[in-house]
Amino acid sequence: MAGLAVAIECEGLGLTYTAKTGTAVNALDNVRCRFVPGQVTAIIGPSGCGKSTLLQIARGFMTPTQGRLRYVSLGGTDAPAPAMATVWQAFNLFPWRSVLANVAFGLELAGVPRAEREARARKALAKVELSGFEDKFPRQLSGGMRQRVGIARALVMEPDVLLLDEPFGALDAQTRLVLQEQLAQLVETSGTTAILVTHSIEEAILLADSILVMTARPGRIAAEIAVDLPRPRTHATTHEPAYGALFDRIYGLLRDEVVRAMTTEGADA
Ligand SMILES: Nc1ncnc2c1ncn2[C@@H]1O[C@H](COP(=O)(O)OP(=O)(O)O)[C@@H](O)[C@H]1O
Ligand SMILES: [Mg+2]
Repeated sequence: MAGLAVAIECEGLGLTYTAKTGTAVNALDNVRCRFVPGQVTAIIGPSGCGKSTLLQIARGFMTPTQGRLRYVSLGGTDAPAPAMATVWQAFNLFPWRSVLANVAFGLELAGVPRAEREARARKALAKVELSGFEDKFPRQLSGGMRQRVGIARALVMEPDVLLLDEPFGALDAQTRLVLQEQLAQLVETSGTTAILVTHSIEEAILLADSILVMTARPGRIAAEIAVDLPRPRTHATTHEPAYGALFDRIYGLLRDEVVRAMTTEGADA
């Protein structure tokens, strides 16, 4: 990590998509939040509430139609965008490239010489406990291992901010549990700034310092909840009373929004 201490601030962000047919979809409305350097912020909310859209705006890939996004230095002045890398849910690895070549791909695009990019890719693979799998191909790996390659591919870029969009959504429950613990350990030891979109309350509590709960579309921030459970957090954390209280509070906020999303889904999409 380059150690750039830049906060990402959303100041009343709104985003309205206009479909080819001319129909407008109001995805985000008046979103106010702040992603703090060195912290893990989880975003949780019903399907279709604008979580991925918010990540795209934070990354600078989309311009809000309302409000503004700011990158802010510790002193409060505008700063250049921090370096960001994204881990997607889909295992979009290149099937014809080895694990090592998949992880090194971003560095290759950036023109990093072969010896250096391979050394850095090996280091990133070690962080996700995949040393020894460098020469394998994606098809030879389990789903959980492929997703760890996806994480290594983001880590190798040494981003200031790691963006994770439902990274474990496609995995079976047991694999997800193990990867959640491993990712929790990784962020604890590295002090990474991360924004994690998830639909799992458990994942949000295990990993985050702060949880943003979103409303059904148009997505707004319903609550920001600080997670002050001690680290390291593991599956055993889920048996603690403080965990249960947090879970209930978040579920209470989410439940009504999920029901609302279910009953309005597609109504104006
Ligand atoms: N390119 C697009 N054109 C029109 N509507 C879109 C587009 N992308 C997303 N949407 C709509 O915007 C809303 C928010 O999408 P998204 O950010 O992907 O939600 P989430 O990630 O929370 O599931 C959804 O209703 C989705 O259908
Ligand atoms: Mg999404």
